[in-house]
Amino acid sequence: MKKSIALSALFVLATSAAYAADDISKLKEESIAVIGPFAKQLSEANQKAVKEGGPASAIVVCKDIAPAMAGEISRNKGWKLSRVSLKVRNPLLGTPDAWEQKTLQDFEARYAKGEKPETIAAAEIVDEPAGKSFRFMKAVALQQGCLGCHGTPEQISPEVKASLAKDYPNDKATGYSVGQIRGAVSIKRPL
Ligand code: HEC
Repeated sequence: MKKSIALSALFVLATSAAYAADDISKLKEESIAVIGPFAKQLSEANQKAVKEGGPASAIVVCKDIAPAMAGEISRNKGWKLSRVSLKVRNPLLGTPDAWEQKTLQDFEARYAKGEKPETIAAAEIVDEPAGKSFRFMKAVALQQGCLGCHGTPEQISPEVKASLAKDYPNDKATGYSVGQIRGAVSIKRPL
């Protein structure tokens, strides 16, 4: 008798866990479907701008186009989509909250163990005082085309340096090499 009660309790636990896993994978797929095109469009806009006018003219892509696109998706979806980093250029938009900070640190640990940035992501349902939300974060790897603005001082032209120094006096987002984790795209979706 005792045994069957224990077993049915186990069964309830197991099914609720399965439902949660189903929910998470659906929410995760929906997030990836939004982040994929966002990242692709940004990367294409960046490549086009660098090719046509050089890195200084591409600043507008990371400075204006990326936040504008993130803002539009956030308004349309009712989610919060942002770009965050442990070493930010724009502290107003890019500073991670507690969950994002912890997750970015975990991403760095996974990267240090040899995992590829392309596969590094995290999904979790988080219960915070402000309410329950689905949180998703996907690592953003540094590509060749990013070096002109996020690489070592030698890789950044005097023109770009001057422009960055003017707009971002507390810039921490330089010194990266290709393949490193520059930051992440983060989605917070109220449930
Ligand atoms: C032409 C210069 C330039 C290039 C090239 C560039 N960025 Fe940026 N990046 C910036 C600027 C300027 C900001 C600050 C944007 C803002 O004000 O929100 C920024 C911010 C970011 C942020 C937001 C977090 C933060 O530090 O504020 C991420 C993530 C990012 N860049 C990733 C990339 C990646 C990945 C690439 C290559 C695909 C790239 N950037 C290429 C200039 C550039």
